[in-house]
Amino acid sequence: MGFPKGFLWGGATAANQYEGAYNVDGRGLSNVDLLPVGEDRRAVVFGEKKMFDFEDGYFYPAQNAIDGYHRYKEDIALFAELGFKTYRMSIAWTRIFPNGDEPEPNEKGLQYYEDVFNECKKYGIEPLVTISHFDTPMYLVEKYGSWRSREMIGYFEKYCRTILTRYKGLVKYWLVFNEINMILHAPFMGAGVYVGDLTEKEATQVKYQAAHHELVANASAVKIAHEIDPENQVGCMLAGGKHYPYSCNPKDVLVSQLRDREDYFFSDVQARGEYPTFMLKKFENEGINVIFEEGDKELLKENTIDFISFSYYMSRVGTADPEIAERTTGNVFDSVKNPYLPSSEWGWQIDPLGMRIILIELYDRYQKPLFIVENGLGAMDIPDENGYVEDDYRIEYMADHIKEIRDAIDLDGIPVLGYTMWGCIDIVSAGTGEMKKRYGFIYVDRDNLGNGTLKRSKKKSFDWYKKVIESNGEIL
Ligand code: BG6
Repeated sequence: MGFPKGFLWGGATAANQYEGAYNVDGRGLSNVDLLPVGEDRRAVVFGEKKMFDFEDGYFYPAQNAIDGYHRYKEDIALFAELGFKTYRMSIAWTRIFPNGDEPEPNEKGLQYYEDVFNECKKYGIEPLVTISHFDTPMYLVEKYGSWRSREMIGYFEKYCRTILTRYKGLVKYWLVFNEINMILHAPFMGAGVYVGDLTEKEATQVKYQAAHHELVANASAVKIAHEIDPENQVGCMLAGGKHYPYSCNPKDVLVSQLRDREDYFFSDVQARGEYPTFMLKKFENEGINVIFEEGDKELLKENTIDFISFSYYMSRVGTADPEIAERTTGNVFDSVKNPYLPSSEWGWQIDPLGMRIILIELYDRYQKPLFIVENGLGAMDIPDENGYVEDDYRIEYMADHIKEIRDAIDLDGIPVLGYTMWGCIDIVSAGTGEMKKRYGFIYVDRDNLGNGTLKRSKKKSFDWYKKVIESNGEIL
């Protein structure tokens, strides 16, 4: 009973939030480099404000992030000390193909990740690699309008083929697009798609066409991965978090159900290999014309993913009643506030039981193994003079969520492959660009404006998580 032998405990980061070194060793500019801290960030993230280059008067935290590019050895050594079985990280497309369309890849970028994977191997840590964590070369954004254009698929395939070939034998677990459903909510951050000059109807059309291109590219990536090495395991990655009906009024139930389906649309295609009927109906009813090319349907059908991965931070609430106005922030988009749940300092609703609920829901829907690749508490840590943080609130958050995963395994019989908590080392927040929104077991001395020594130090939760892993989830 409890967590199975071989359960992949670990932590997760993403290139643009961790590496920095945005212009080092030939790296090209990426959409995610251009998200400033401050009040304009949301508009840029949501594709409403155009920011295709660095502008004066803004601070861009991804430029240097926590300098993981130069400090990964120290960091992986700490992950090894924690006992990580896996480390989820992403490859920056622009380190491999700086513009996205070069005939040959950038050797320095390829070598960098090879070194990272070898460093993991040294400690027996299995890499879990996201091919695109919100990451699109700006050159392709400017030239083609990013994923709205079909051209992207070929460039992405080439990128996938290059890394899958190079890292054969070093990496077995792959995720294609991080939180693919974010393209509907945060199109510029999620997929480099700027929609600020479009009407709402045009923007919807562009977003679904771009989503189709990503779904086709996802199927291609699965195909290439399986061809190159049948041992490869490829997952989709969904921003999870169910909508609960605000009340048992059937109207609230329906609103919540329909809202969830917008997100499940992506994993439905990736796991089942075809567009769900409800989405085809929506396109028909709303006059959305998604262009399929010959062969798309077959490609999608024949190349479904091996497992379902998702992030889970919170549940959401749906209501049909416009009078219920109290809302709260959440992972990228906000939600009606749930009166039964406490919230984090950033207003995200804390709901451990929701972890079990979403595990059940996803397994019932797909019957594929599940992998929780993001979960955690973004909090304002206050370190002592040695950089030590008494983060009992984080320990409590995680213990409560991990217990629910254990119940889902023990009581519901759900196959769960692993758990990588988000931001195992403090990194730049994707939503706000802040450094003070911290998730890690490892504190990093850096502030919102990039000041600090970047020194790493262990928080209280470091020793706690180490014991969790050592005991395979018995001691929480
Ligand atoms: C997910 C992303 O949306 O949530 C991560 O995949 C992100 O990139 C994480 O960092 C937490 O969100 P935030 O806004 O607190 O950084």
